[in-house]
Amino acid sequence: MKFFIDTANLDEIKKAKELGILAGVTTNPSLVAKEGVPFHKRLEEITEIVTGSVSAEVIREDAEGMIEEGKKLAAIAPNITVKIPMTLEGLKAVNTLTSLNIKTNVTLIFNANQALLAARAGATYVSPFLGRLDDIGHLGMDVVDTIRTIFDKHQVHTKIIAASIRHTMHVTEAARLGAHIATVPYGVLEQLVKHPLTEQGIEKFLADWNQAQHRV
Ligand code: E4P
Repeated sequence: MKFFIDTANLDEIKKAKELGILAGVTTNPSLVAKEGVPFHKRLEEITEIVTGSVSAEVIREDAEGMIEEGKKLAAIAPNITVKIPMTLEGLKAVNTLTSLNIKTNVTLIFNANQALLAARAGATYVSPFLGRLDDIGHLGMDVVDTIRTIFDKHQVHTKIIAASIRHTMHVTEAARLGAHIATVPYGVLEQLVKHPLTEQGIEKFLADWNQAQHRV
């Protein structure tokens, strides 16, 4: 499983890139709005930092509008992936954008049927939202599991992005169940690195080292 970062914040993207684990970025209208910067400018800035896929979401809800917006977004940089919501109009847009060789990420996926339809329409990626399903008392991870089983059984090549990740166990489980990518907020990425025994171990090694220095 690869790691994308789920943010429109440049500092977070740069910090994740320095770790050498960053395969791409996902943004959404809420994340861009939080930054208070013009959308297209921010996408240009992100694509200057990251060579992997950068998902940018359309705002229009009709297929024609999504296609028009998608073309403009894709023209920003070759690594832009157009993010399209899972609706009938969205599927039409995915179909057309795919025929134009524009990559798509179908977002707001909450069950396996939606994922299969998106894949058959030509989506490069599907993004099941784990945290939002957990929030309403469903097991988001079951959706990832079912999507992976169906995709494998029917030789579907669309990649599964585990999205709406809230904590480290989401990451472990997404990897165990075969999500191709997890798109992770920066805070969760930091938590993934930490373990109390690692911290204790470093302290103990340093204390032993310093003690030995005093003996010489
Ligand atoms: C994914 O592409 C979305 O941007 C994101 O993961 C949504 O997460 P949220 O439910 O925490 O807003």
